Amino acid sequence: MDAHSCSCCSKKDVKGETRAKYEEQWEQYDERAAADRRLNNSPVADPLLRMIMPFSGKTVVDLGVGTGGFAFRAMELSPPEKMVGVDFSSHALRVSKAVANTRAFAEMDFEAVLGDLERIPLVNKCADVILSQASFNLLPDKNAGMKEMARIAKSGAKIVLSDAFRTRKKCEDEPWEACVGGAITVAEFSTLTLSVGIIISHQIDLTRQVTQLVTSKKWDWPEFVEHRLDYRGFVMFKA
Ligand SMILES: C[S@@+](CC[C@H](N)C(=O)[O-])C[C@H]1O[C@@H](n2cnc3c(N)ncnc32)[C@H](O)[C@@H]1O
Repeated sequence: MDAHSCSCCSKKDVKGETRAKYEEQWEQYDERAAADRRLNNSPVADPLLRMIMPFSGKTVVDLGVGTGGFAFRAMELSPPEKMVGVDFSSHALRVSKAVANTRAFAEMDFEAVLGDLERIPLVNKCADVILSQASFNLLPDKNAGMKEMARIAKSGAKIVLSDAFRTRKKCEDEPWEACVGGAITVAEFSTLTLSVGIIISHQIDLTRQVTQLVTSKKWDWPEFVEHRLDYRGFVMFKA
């Protein structure tokens, strides 16, 4: 599938609206709200992180770091040599830096990088490990995003990506900014990964965990349940 040529992309400035939505969302956050979010999301993050730990001596890059729900959870479970968080929201990076300065993380190396995941401002082959949680669906050009992920990965780099996946046909009123409109199928995702030399080694179905978090109001994502998506985590490596 050419993910860029969907009807949503041609109708409006999807990326601009997505960025505006997250700027507004993260503006409300501080390091305490980020810690709550991180703890709430740990039933989804932990099983995936545990499959690729330890991170000691590694440079880990989180693509779409937000307030660091995935990145700082990884740092709590297994401190890396360095964690780099990339996001195009300046408020996301403001909160991430505030979290990095809290006592638990102050001794660790965290770098916040402002940038677009379709054009990542990092050098080739810089990452031993790549993380990405609930961000890939937001990219209008998923081919570009996947190529960039492959470009920054060292050979043999481990990659964990999780997001919502489509199980039924696309319909008109799917909000892009809620990681719904841009959801693709697992088959389309597998084709994309293979095209850039990223090999899927494991796939975990986390739909039940995410549904529980949404219904218990621990994850503010009603659209996930309303649109009956699946949530999958992929453990992969760069060939
Ligand atoms: C749903 S949030 C997830 C944040 C974090 N990964 C987590 O799980 O808590 C998606 C994040 O992706 C970022 N994002 C979306 N599209 C992006 C793009 N094209 N370039 C960089 N960041 C992007 C948003 O700013 C937002 O912080």
